[in-house]
This record gives sequence, C-alpha cells and structure tokens, in this order.
Amino acid sequence: MKTEIIKIDFEKPLGEQLCSSAEIIRNGGLVAFPTETVYGLGGSALDADAAKKIYSAKGRPSDNPLIIHISEPKNAEKYCFTNDAYYKIANAFMPGPITVILPKKDIIPYSVTGGLDTVAVRCPENIVARTLIEKAGVPIAAPSANTSGRPSPTTARHVIEDMDSKIDAIIDGGGSSIGLESTIVMPKDDSVIVLRPGGITVEMLKKIFGKVELDAGITKKNESDKAPLAPGMKYRHYAPHAEVFLLLDSGKGEFDEKAVGFLSEKLAADPSAGVICFDEYMDKIKGENVFYFGKKDDDVEHARRLFDILRGFDKTNAKVIYATASDTKGVGLAIFNRMLKASGFNTIEI
Ligand code: TXA
Ligand code: MG
Repeated sequence: MKTEIIKIDFEKPLGEQLCSSAEIIRNGGLVAFPTETVYGLGGSALDADAAKKIYSAKGRPSDNPLIIHISEPKNAEKYCFTNDAYYKIANAFMPGPITVILPKKDIIPYSVTGGLDTVAVRCPENIVARTLIEKAGVPIAAPSANTSGRPSPTTARHVIEDMDSKIDAIIDGGGSSIGLESTIVMPKDDSVIVLRPGGITVEMLKKIFGKVELDAGITKKNESDKAPLAPGMKYRHYAPHAEVFLLLDSGKGEFDEKAVGFLSEKLAADPSAGVICFDEYMDKIKGENVFYFGKKDDDVEHARRLFDILRGFDKTNAKVIYATASDTKGVGLAIFNRMLKASGFNTIEI
C-alpha cells in the first residue's frame, strides 16, 4: 500500500487540508495523526474492521483495547455511560492529555475494546486532531502509531519509520508538545484510580478528588497475579533493542556525583555504551552514544525528548544503555514509569 504523507501548513485553513484524511477514516481506512501527547493511528471507532486493521498494522495483541477520540467532551454521551467523575475531569482537563474509562454503549464494537464492556475516551487538545475528528463525523479509535513494543512516536518521522506502506496516510503536524501518552483514569466510588500516569498529574487529580489511587505496577514490578487494570500496561514497552539499566537514587546522598562516577567507569570500559543523562553532566560525561535529556529538574523537557532518544538508540551500535531517571513528582512520575518499562525493571540503586 502507498502511504500518503500530508504535511500541514498552519498558515492555511485546516479543514481543507484534512478533507481527504477524514474521508479515508469514514470509509474504513487508517490515518496517523498528531496529538499533543503522541501520534495516534486512527480508524473509525464505529467500524469493527477498521479496528482489526489497526491491530494488524501495529502487530498488537487484540486483547489490548483502543482509546476512542472525540472532538467535544459532551460527545462521550453517544458512546458510553458518563458519570460525575467524568464531568469533573472534563471540566478541569478536557480537551487535554487525559483518558477516562467508562461503561461502553452498544454502538462501540467489542473489537475496539478488546472484548471489554468499558471503553477509553479522550478529547485531545491538538487542533489537527480535533479538526480531523470533527470532519470525519465519527469518533476515532487510535492507539499510539508505533509498532507494538516500540517507543510511541512524537513526530511524523517516527510514524513513517514504523507505518510506511502499512496505512493509507500520515498527517505531519509537527512534534507532539507533551511527548508522553495521556493519563488514563478509571472512576471508582467518588474518586479515580490512575491506570497510566501522564501529562495530567496525580497532584492535579488530587486537587479535584482529594485522595487518588495508583494502579499496581506504575512504579514497581507487579509481582502479584492481579493483572493491571489497563491491559496494555502488562506488555514490555518503549524498549530499544539494547538492554537498558535505570540508575535510581538510593536516598543515601550525592546521587549526581555517584552517577557521574558510575557512568564514567562504564564508558571507559565500553565507549559505545548508551547513556541518557541530565544536561548538568555534559562536561563530564561524553561519548558517541551519550544523549542529554534536559536539566535535572526540567521534567517537561524530559517528557518531550525521551521517546526520540529511545528510538535513536536503535540507530547506534550501543549494546547496553544506562539512564538516569526523573524524580517521581508531577509529570516526572509518567517519565519514570516509561523509563522503568523501557528498562524491563532493570534498576541499579546508587
Ligand atoms: O495519549 C494517548 O493516550 C495516545 C494518543 C494517540 O491519544 N494513545 C495511546 O493509546 O497511548 P495506546 O493504545 O497506545 O494505549 C492505550 C492504553 C493501553 O494501555 C490500553 O490497555 C488502555 O489504554 N485501555 C484502553 N481501553 C481500556 C479499557 N476499556 N480499560 C482499561 N484500559 C484500557
Ligand atoms: Mg501505545
């Protein structure tokens, strides 16, 4: 299949530029599109066959449900049974990087929800995404537009790497401003459980709900036989081909000094080793496969750069990667969670 690349010109009206993509979606085809979190691989959420095509293009297990994207928060009514928690979230954070799990209505096929009676709903903020949904006239089912297991795409170039010749079109609307997938929450009693951390932080949710629960497996390996509430969280993910080790702060002090010492030693032994570290280490830690992902306290920048860096390693000869992690406050929790998964829970406390 020839994949058409549609480059958006933000100086010109969007509607016209998205007409053909909207038509492809309405007719059961697949179009990758930008959102503020990551690029999505979209098909009509009302079309069971489109969902099957999505699973096949990604190589994704079909028990891992898709998120449906809507252009207005109130449109959720058509596809699922909303509740107070949904409207509290919608009023505070939509459109934006948050997804809510709700009981589905019959109009959403089981192939979209991986056989579950619930459906994940999200109203993205990105103007290209919202215009596309509006024009398509149907909700758009979209997982991240990467091959299953690879880091999510934050640019059209990443999508082309994974999806060229597998889907009808790729809309290039520039880089994703957040760079990490949406926060996923499931309403429970008068509050929510966070199934996947993201741009809407636990601290922000606590301001609305008071106490907020975190699903198992977000910051630790889930040793229990209880499956995570978001089926996708059980898969190894975000992983470059090389083995990744995450350096964690033991809390015994002088983390940066110890990390610089550790990384210098590893690079001396193997100059091709991969490293992800803070900008502050730039003077001391240098090497062909060393990537800096922002100042230590700049978690917004870490989020924006992480997936591009992880993908970049696959073009190097690094056989092993050592990474320093963001702390777990604010959006840092989401970055930490993705890095932990990329490392397959290989951690080294220093
Ligand atoms: O930011 C995002 O959320 C991006 C953009 C494209 O919107 N999408 C995304 O989709 O990250 P995906 O498919 O890569 O991740 C969706 C996650 C998976 O972990 C899946 O298991 C979970 O959402 N999920 C979907 N429907 C669910 C449901 N009904 N119950 C529990 N988890 C669900
Ligand atoms: Mg994904």
